[in-house]
Amino acid sequence: MESGYQRLDVSEHRRCRCSKMQKFVWLTGFLLALALHVVVVPSSSTWLLAVYYASVGFVVVWTILLYLMEKADVPDLTPIECIVPEKIWCRGYLVNISGASCYSRTTIIHLNDGSYCVHSPCPLDDICEQFFHGRTVSYLLAPGDWHHFHIAAWAQRFQTAKVLICPGVEKKQPLLNHNGFIHDYIASAGNDDALSKEFEAVFSAGFDLMHEVVMYHKVTRHLLLVDLVEHIGDDYVGYNRCLRLFWCLFGMWNQGKPAPEYQFGVGKKDEVRRFMREILEGDWKIEGIILSHGNNLLHVTNEESKEFLRGAWKAML
Ligand SMILES: [Fe+2]
Repeated sequence: MESGYQRLDVSEHRRCRCSKMQKFVWLTGFLLALALHVVVVPSSSTWLLAVYYASVGFVVVWTILLYLMEKADVPDLTPIECIVPEKIWCRGYLVNISGASCYSRTTIIHLNDGSYCVHSPCPLDDICEQFFHGRTVSYLLAPGDWHHFHIAAWAQRFQTAKVLICPGVEKKQPLLNHNGFIHDYIASAGNDDALSKEFEAVFSAGFDLMHEVVMYHKVTRHLLLVDLVEHIGDDYVGYNRCLRLFWCLFGMWNQGKPAPEYQFGVGKKDEVRRFMREILEGDWKIEGIILSHGNNLLHVTNEESKEFLRGAWKAML
């Protein structure tokens, strides 16, 4: 099988389209500016001129914002794609943060005991229901403190599943009943537990603004990252212009790099370096990297994976 970057399966992709509300606000501002122009030009009233310039300014700014924030015309949820036969599946779902939108990724792992683990759950819909019909979901994971938004709905639907979280999620979702932090649970659950038998995990220590639990699936030798590497560029679909602008400004376009919150939120450099070296120099043999945002790196050697990670993290090492 060919190695390299794997795109999300988005069957239909047409370029951006504004919402009706965005068009309505733009048209209202435009018509107001036009009407004032007709009234103001022959007049010398100061306050009318002020309103006129404010309306023109609004139309200009709103036009720029509409252009940048226009959502890519792609499905909100992508099909469920098989990544490793019988073992790992992924699915993309659109997220929007401060006007920048792109896909986030849910990963489903088939454990050796026959049950399933859901990592970074997407909105629960009929396709998820069909996939899990007759299957047992035994673990629901919120692996990052920005990747927990849909876990409560899944916990409600799959009530026997253990809910494990990244530190920080308990503060953001105080009403969520959970069974502990992912890395602590895996370290302590022992050999009778399906998740701890198949995974190793490490917490991203040393950062101030964003956190996650990095997971390594020993069975398939795949690494699951949330925001520690995002890999979005020319061959990616689903982003809008606002995201592209930010990614270009941060030097992240076509480059695998940590999310801006990681880049600008290094609190304790020593801890960050120790944590990254633990992944790069430890005994994990990584032959595939699944990212929450961007194109996965699949069917690669351990050396290629580590080189990719070293390149992404070089500013922090
Ligand atoms: Fe994220």
